[in-house]
Order: sequence, then structure tokens, then C-alpha cells
Amino acid sequence: MATASADLEEIPTVDLMTELLRRMKCATKPDKRLILIGPPGCGKGTQSPIIKDEYCLCHLATGDMLRAAVAAKTPLGVKAKEAMDKGELVSDDLVIGIIDEAMKKTSCQKGFILDGFPRTVVQAQKLDEMLEKQGAKIDKVLNFAVDDAILEERITGRWIHSSSGRTYHSKLAPPKVPGIDDITGEPLIQRKDDTAAVLKSRLEAFHRQTKPVIDYYSKKGSVVNLHAEKPPKEVTVEVQKALS
Ligand code: AP5
Repeated sequence: MATASADLEEIPTVDLMTELLRRMKCATKPDKRLILIGPPGCGKGTQSPIIKDEYCLCHLATGDMLRAAVAAKTPLGVKAKEAMDKGELVSDDLVIGIIDEAMKKTSCQKGFILDGFPRTVVQAQKLDEMLEKQGAKIDKVLNFAVDDAILEERITGRWIHSSSGRTYHSKLAPPKVPGIDDITGEPLIQRKDDTAAVLKSRLEAFHRQTKPVIDYYSKKGSVVNLHAEKPPKEVTVEVQKALS
């Protein structure tokens, strides 16, 4: 629904100007359709907000969408919960449905970052079919390549600000005050599946079901390999090079 001019009066000038400047900057950016792929804890969620702001894309993280559905106890959430708690993948049909719906959002007009999707070859084929219907295709697949051995420390030390998706790490990227978001002062949470035991199943699912997706896109020539074991700022530089 369009905002009435009376409503606009209520918005502080500085917020209007910031939004105007953001839109002017975004108008100059090329459209991009990106996939971020890699094992749990490889840094997809850390780099996504940076890419989103730089290129004015929407960030579609299937894990976040599924967790929101579980928390709200929607029919989708009820179906997804058991697999997620065990570190297994939820069914292809469920995630394809939520992605198809999410890509229609206005914020996806200039393109999207898919974080955690596609995770099986069936999901990748379905995605390609959906895009083909719009005369579009995936521009780049960023492969966050990293050895399994360093992921347990990353995953078990992760803290999240749930409403913004900001991610911290108790040792590697600590918040200013332990357990508190730097920006809002709100409490941080830990994910239920961020334990060493569940990580084992998540890694098994990655190697068995998701690695073939990297091969699928490699054959199409769209994969760029990143050194995701490097510190976050160095990974950001690699991402920027890959997208320039
Ligand atoms: P999802 O939420 O997608 O989890 P995931 O793939 O396991 O990925 P993570 O969010 O754990 O890792 P990340 O790469 O974002 O890491 P982050 O940047 O936070 O999926 C959860 C579940 O949902 C699945 O198990 C499945 O059940 C279901 N699901 C989701 N999508 C599905 C699909 N398409 N099909 C079927 N089922 C699906 O980083 C981790 C930590 O490391 C942070 O603390 C961070 O501060 C730190 N860190 C990040 N980068 C670095 C760095 N370079 N150096 C040092 N530390 C770093």
C-alpha cells in the first residue's frame, strides 16, 4: 500500500534523506543474482549483510526463514523442526516453496543473495527453472571453501542478534559486552543446532547433498572459490574481487 503524504510528514527528515541517498546509490548498481555456498560456519551469514548493502540486494537465508517458521509454530515450521533439530535437511518441496515466494519481494528487484539455498541438486535445478521463466540466471556462485576442522570452534562460539541477523563469536569476533548486541543493546542468542554433536550431522549433510551442487554450478562456469579460512575482513576483500 502506498504511503500517504500525511504519513511521510511523520518521518524525520534525516531518515528520508538517508533513504533517498540509498536509493540514488542503488540505482547505479548492476543487478546481481548470487548464491553463497559452503559448510556450516563457513562465513556466509557474516559476509551476506556486507554484500547486501554494497549491491542493494535482498538476502534470502533459508535457515533464518525456517527458524522463524519454527518459532511461530506455522505448519511449515512444524514440518521442518524435527529435521533441523537433528542437523538434517528439510524436504526440497518445503524450501523451494519458500524461496519462490520470497524472491517476489520488492527488495529483491535488483537481485538476491541466496544463503543456504540451493542445498541439493534438485533444489538447484528447480531454481534454474524458476529463473529461466523470468529470463534470468544465476550470475555467480561464491564457494566458501574451508576445512571441516576449524568449523567446530566457529559454530560453538557463535552468538546471534536474532532480529538483525548480526553475528558475533565469543573469541573470534566478541561483542563489546558479552551476550549483548553492540548496536541495539538487546540480548544475543545461541542457536539450538550449534552444538558439536549436531554439527557432525550438518557436515555430513553438506558433504553428501550440497557438495554436488558446487559441481553442478562448476560445470556451468559460475563458481568462484574463496579462501574462507582467512579472517573475515580478508574474505570480504576476496568477495569484492569476485563481484567486481
Ligand atoms: P542454516 O541456517 O543455513 O545453517 P548453515 O548452512 O549450517 O550455516 P550457518 O548459518 O551455520 O553458517 P554461516 O556460514 O552463515 O556462518 P556464520 O557467518 O554465522 O541452516 C540450518 C538448518 O536449516 C539446516 O541444517 C537444515 O536443516 C535447514 N535448511 C536450511 N536451508 C535448507 C535448504 N535449502 N534445504 C534443506 N534444509 C535447509 O559464521 C559462523 C561463526 O564464525 C560466527 O560466529 C562468525 O562470527 C564466525 N566467522 C565467520 N567468518 C569467519 C572468519 N572468516 N574467520 C573466523 N570466524 C568467522
